[in-house]
Amino acid sequence: MQFKSLVVALATAVTMTGAFAQAPIVIKFSHVVATDTPKGQAAERFKMLAEKATGGKVKVEVYPNSQLYKDKEELEALQLGAVQMLAPSLAKFGPLGAKEFEVFDLPYIFPTKQALYNVTEGPIGKSLLQKLEPKGITGLAFWDNGFKIMSANKPMHMPADFKGMKMRIQSSKVLEAQMRALGANPQVLAFSEVYQALQTGVVDGTENPPSNMYTQKMHEVQKHVTMSNHGYLGYAVIVNKKFWDGLPADIRGQLEKAMADATTFEKAIAQRDNDLAMDAIKKAGKTTIYNLTPAEQAAWRTALLPVHKEMEGRIGKDLITAIGKATK
Ligand code: LMR
Repeated sequence: MQFKSLVVALATAVTMTGAFAQAPIVIKFSHVVATDTPKGQAAERFKMLAEKATGGKVKVEVYPNSQLYKDKEELEALQLGAVQMLAPSLAKFGPLGAKEFEVFDLPYIFPTKQALYNVTEGPIGKSLLQKLEPKGITGLAFWDNGFKIMSANKPMHMPADFKGMKMRIQSSKVLEAQMRALGANPQVLAFSEVYQALQTGVVDGTENPPSNMYTQKMHEVQKHVTMSNHGYLGYAVIVNKKFWDGLPADIRGQLEKAMADATTFEKAIAQRDNDLAMDAIKKAGKTTIYNLTPAEQAAWRTALLPVHKEMEGRIGKDLITAIGKATK
């Protein structure tokens, strides 16, 4: 009888130890956009690949749409270890002290997507991600979104049309300079607040790639869109360094592979998603879509290109020059 209880006790202990040993490592991945955007879908793809590759030893919990944290808070949460993974836009790294990331915001800096990839997938991209290490952050990948369009409730054909308009921007000094160069008043707002700010007239307009504009329904409260493609929006996928370094090496390797595959997927869908979003905005019929004439395009460039020189002091002349060479 006593022997039997001992056997039962031992069996229970073994089962419990097994249960503890199998408790998965949880990665909380917080982001601010909708699931049906390039970033949203790639986060889901990473979850699927990571959980499969690790045989369930890792569980990825994706929290889209600022469900968990807004822009500024999510960066703080990552550093504190309250979440493990984020993919903030490159325009949001300034508050971390990584001002160089704002180079991606310079108007017209990437003539094509290929020019952008030359930067993000080459030595410049690598050295930018390395700058995050002293902040307790490891950069894993660059994710793509697209070129930005302008929206407002009045037509925007020439730079002079922006005079006095309140334009929502992300927290980047380069974007601030860009809006000022157009004569507009820039206003930093968290992404989750943009729709309401546009709806209530707190701001008059904004800029974003079509995928963000459509999935946040901004087109429903913006009568005009200009296909300006004047700047780029993309992301860096980042993790809490202490968490990442503390992972068993085999698991970290499997996650790196899952991230590489999710990144390939993300790059493949970004342009298509933006094209589909633009079609959907047109079909919704609430917004007039304007294509700039060559003369208007030239006027925009004349107004916006001086921002490169103006921001040299903040971003570094060498970095701007290096990108100029890599994108030729
Ligand atoms: C924005 O705040 O406009 C974008 O950065 C949102 C995003 O993450 O795409």
